[in-house]
Amino acid sequence: MLKTRKAKLKVFLIVIGMMTAGNLTVTRAMAGIVGSPHDFSGETWNPTGEICVVCHTPHNAGAGNAPLWNHTTTTAGFTVYSSPSLNAGVPQPAGTSKACLSCHDGTVALDSFGGNTGTTFIGSLGDAGIVLGTDLSNDHPISFPYNTALATADGGLYDPSTANSGLGGTINNDMLLNGNVECASCHDVHNSTGLPELLVKSNSGSALCLTCHNK
Ligand code: HEC
Ligand code: HEC
Ligand code: HEC
Ligand code: HEC
Repeated sequence: MLKTRKAKLKVFLIVIGMMTAGNLTVTRAMAGIVGSPHDFSGETWNPTGEICVVCHTPHNAGAGNAPLWNHTTTTAGFTVYSSPSLNAGVPQPAGTSKACLSCHDGTVALDSFGGNTGTTFIGSLGDAGIVLGTDLSNDHPISFPYNTALATADGGLYDPSTANSGLGGTINNDMLLNGNVECASCHDVHNSTGLPELLVKSNSGSALCLTCHNK
């Protein structure tokens, strides 16, 4: 119990101080692609010094898997995920996932953009974890429709058209791309959240997994 006005004022000032410090922390860890793992503006293999151009171009974009796509697209054949308990039919990677795999499968150089053929591959960065390769059988399935029918057939999935994603709307609206699970269901390529591993939401307590899986 705070008896005096002075004591109350002191607490008030401490709280303001904490809020200011908190705001400064937020500013430092600001989300966005600048300074994120996908900011390639300072890489020697990217002489443009720009960020977006590695993946997008405002003009003369290639027929692409993502909007105004400027990066050479992978032509690899992939081994897709399969298991006896899987209800979904998982096709070859498509859509925006193919855009991700155009660097992360390790077959197309990072600097193969704007019509140039580059020479720096993701495998040369010395981090095996970021190279998914062409064998996706050990990775979460992607590029398949996730809808009410799949949720019913599986029995352990939320209905994406009604279940809350925790991001403001339904799973379908916030996490699926044209109704499909893709890499971008779990990752934000532009780092808008500022979370580790470019995740769309924190996976603390497996919260990301439990958004879709009713386990
Ligand atoms: C490493 C590759 C990469 C870089 C760099 C990149 N993007 Fe993207 N962008 C993608 C992919 C892949 C998609 C499609 C997946 C998605 O929508 O999340 C996309 C989608 C988009 C979209 C449409 C969907 C949306 O999120 O609004 C816009 C607009 C966009 N990017 C703008 C930009 C701008 C502006 C920059 C530079 C500041 C940039 N991107 C940098 C890969 C990239
Ligand atoms: C169902 C959710 C989900 C999907 C779909 C998904 N990821 Fe991930 N990914 C994660 C999580 C969670 C992590 C965090 C680290 C971990 O648990 O492996 C991660 C980690 C990563 C990493 C960092 C690995 C490391 O060792 O630093 C890369 C790169 C990555 N994912 C790329 C992709 C690409 C490319 C795709 C599509 C082909 C994809 N992810 C699809 C959830 C997903
Ligand atoms: C132009 C090539 C390129 C494209 C396209 C691309 N990435 Fe990456 N990505 C990279 C590179 C290179 C790194 C490693 C950067 C580093 O470690 O400095 C990386 C890192 C990552 C990481 C690890 C981040 C961390 O915190 O360590 C994830 C996750 C990831 N990418 C997911 C994706 C997803 C999902 C897509 C598509 C939506 C995508 N990437 C598209 C080149 C690309
Ligand atoms: C955006 C929704 C979504 C998110 C987020 C998600 N999953 Fe999935 N996951 C699915 C769907 C849909 C399937 C397909 C299920 C089926 O067809 O049986 C699936 C399949 C799987 C399977 C294979 C099931 C089988 O029968 O072989 C596993 C295991 C799995 N997810 C684990 C995870 C884990 C772990 C995470 C968190 C890192 C995660 N999922 C995040 C939607 C999601």
